[in-house]
Amino acid sequence: MICVLMMASGAAWESDAFATLTRAGGIVVLKRCVDVDDLLATATSGQTDVAVVGLDAPGLDPAALAHLRRHAVRPVAVCAGDAADPRVVGRAQRLGISTLVPDADLASLAEVVSTVEAVADTRVRGDAEPAPPATAETRGRVLAVWGPGGAPGRTTVAVSVAAELARRNTDCVLVDADPYGGGIAQQLGILDEVSGLLSAVRLAGAGQLGERFASTTRAIGERLSVVTGLPRADRWIEVRSSHLETLLDEAREAGEVVVDTGFSVEGDPTGDFGTRPSRNAMTVTSLTLADEIVVVGAADPVGLSRLARSLVDLRDVTGGAPVRVVVNKMRASLGWSEREIAGMVEGFSRVSSLHFLPWDQAVTDRALVAGRALPEVSDGPLPRALSGLVDALAPASVVGSATRRTRLRRRRSVR
Ligand SMILES: Nc1ncnc2c1ncn2[C@@H]1O[C@H](COP(=O)(O)OP(=O)(O)OP(=O)(O)O)[C@@H](O)[C@H]1O
Ligand SMILES: [Mg+2]
Repeated sequence: MICVLMMASGAAWESDAFATLTRAGGIVVLKRCVDVDDLLATATSGQTDVAVVGLDAPGLDPAALAHLRRHAVRPVAVCAGDAADPRVVGRAQRLGISTLVPDADLASLAEVVSTVEAVADTRVRGDAEPAPPATAETRGRVLAVWGPGGAPGRTTVAVSVAAELARRNTDCVLVDADPYGGGIAQQLGILDEVSGLLSAVRLAGAGQLGERFASTTRAIGERLSVVTGLPRADRWIEVRSSHLETLLDEAREAGEVVVDTGFSVEGDPTGDFGTRPSRNAMTVTSLTLADEIVVVGAADPVGLSRLARSLVDLRDVTGGAPVRVVVNKMRASLGWSEREIAGMVEGFSRVSSLHFLPWDQAVTDRALVAGRALPEVSDGPLPRALSGLVDALAPASVVGSATRRTRLRRRRSVR
């Protein structure tokens, strides 16, 4: 049985194609997707063999096709007019689609869908297929830093983890993927207005991110590069999940990837209408792709109850990646012990490790004002506790760090 998704974007051929496919034996049309986002989200479920798409469907780009291939979905495109027309062939080639059916010849569609299954393995390994991924040893992992609203310190932790990894001689890419507005550029004193995230997703859409990834990053020293976030919170709408996925995939080639995410994983009801990506999709994508997740919560009563809620919400989103919890802004005046908090956290989720970071306004302010990461401005209790988190996240980096206690001295904006 061949499972098919259709995405015609309202083209006139849709109902004929649907009728042809449903009449044919051995083919099931799982869904008529309203747009590219719907198609890609549905393809992620892993039940689809073939996607029948309109060649001119809005939003269909090389990154979308790469997403389909990653999920072993083979594309068949329906084109208007002659399939041999050089413009049609050129667009199909740019997208990496090798199987075209003219909308005037839909009678052959069922056979083509069946044939593409039979020969798909050779086709998807053809020229349009990206180079096979590097081995697990050479590619970095995605470490997503997440946590509830109320500014518990997600960005502070993400920046510190990335800086500490770099200090331990590990290549690291820090990606600001917070759909509510990025804070990494401000924390690291990167002053220019260019958003690494927006340029990366544009390049991903054009199928050029592979060769131009470096242009979307800012170097902060030898080992750390940064993909800065949204310059204004309302520009989240320009970030398609599949493009973020391509970005994170590309970043893995450069080292460990630390991602600062948003706080919410709630579905967006307007996303269901298919006219635009949903706002929290960036966060959900980062968490879904993560190899490890760090959940940051604040130690005060409001922060802890939000943290508990977040740990419950997270269960629906992750694919079983290890979860480490960071309780930030710990202070004696709150009147509870680490053991009491550990009991509360363990009641909500089985976590791989639990870390406590002390409240230290003076050190965080110094880092913010200097535009530097915490491990660079202090070696007091807060950076030491962060170092313990990095020990857990990257055990292999521990040996190297003990002999590298020298501080990095870098200027604010680099490059
Ligand atoms: N351990 C700490 N002690 C004192 N202040 C801290 C600590 N950790 C973070 N902060 C401060 O808390 C504030 C919020 O931190 P941060 O921006 O990292 O939070 P966030 O969770 O990313 O927030 P947002 O929701 O705005 O993205 C900052 O002013 C930061 O300096
Ligand atoms: Mg933040």
